[in-house]
Amino acid sequence: MTAYLNNADTWQESWDRQQEGFLPDREHRFDAMLTAVAAVTDGAAPKVLDLAGGTGSISLRALARFPGARVTVLDQDPVLLTIAAASLDGRGDVVDADLGDPGWRAKLPYEEFDAVLTATALHWLPADRIGALYAEVRDVLRPGGIFVNADHMPDEGLTGFSARLRDHARAKRNARYQTGAATSWPEWWARAAADEQLAPKVVERQRIYPGGHAQEWNPPAAWHLDALRAAGFGESGVLWRGGTDAAVIGVN
Ligand SMILES: C[S@@+](CC[C@H](N)C(=O)[O-])C[C@H]1O[C@@H](n2cnc3c(N)ncnc32)[C@H](O)[C@@H]1O
Repeated sequence: MTAYLNNADTWQESWDRQQEGFLPDREHRFDAMLTAVAAVTDGAAPKVLDLAGGTGSISLRALARFPGARVTVLDQDPVLLTIAAASLDGRGDVVDADLGDPGWRAKLPYEEFDAVLTATALHWLPADRIGALYAEVRDVLRPGGIFVNADHMPDEGLTGFSARLRDHARAKRNARYQTGAATSWPEWWARAAADEQLAPKVVERQRIYPGGHAQEWNPPAAWHLDALRAAGFGESGVLWRGGTDAAVIGVN
């Protein structure tokens, strides 16, 4: 994985801003995740797996908060992994693996992690795969280690109101795109495709995500809690909630 990219910081920053267009409280969920990591490690050099970590936003925040943290970003997007490798600049591992295949575990640099963290990603996987993945995550966690998944997870009691919250957020977001206050997902990818270094990676990406994006499946938080229990996590619950998104935690 090439670790050199012109303007890596600018790409990282622009990814974060683009994601915040969807998730205005993105930093809040990251903060809740890292507080959970501190609670199980006292912040002493935690080993953190940033699952479907994209450009490594969570890993970079873990490094800033816990000097000595050992971070691993795993993803299958060649564009985002290029940005992750350049941003980490040797301060962590970058793993190219497909979470659709249980073999992803064999590519990790450590046998056990203190924490596996993932955000806004597993809704790209089908239901039966998420359940199996939760059990696979336990395999790479030390006893007492934690798994946190932050994603679109409406409250099961708010079916109708969650739709209204989503409509409201979409209208606000579209207004920001129209005024140029935020960069949309297609705009961001068009910029990457126009960049001399990233363009070949965008071509590779099109083979992995021919539709530009995988499917979306967003069950309520209660579904994830059941899946965590079924996977054998000793404790599971909601760590954080923001509107129609939540972060669920499983304690191994
Ligand atoms: C919206 S991005 C979020 C990235 C990062 N977690 C963040 O919060 O910035 C979703 C990520 O999930 C990754 N992803 C989706 N399906 C995957 C799979 N089967 N294997 C590995 N990564 C996957 C995508 O490549 C993408 O980087």
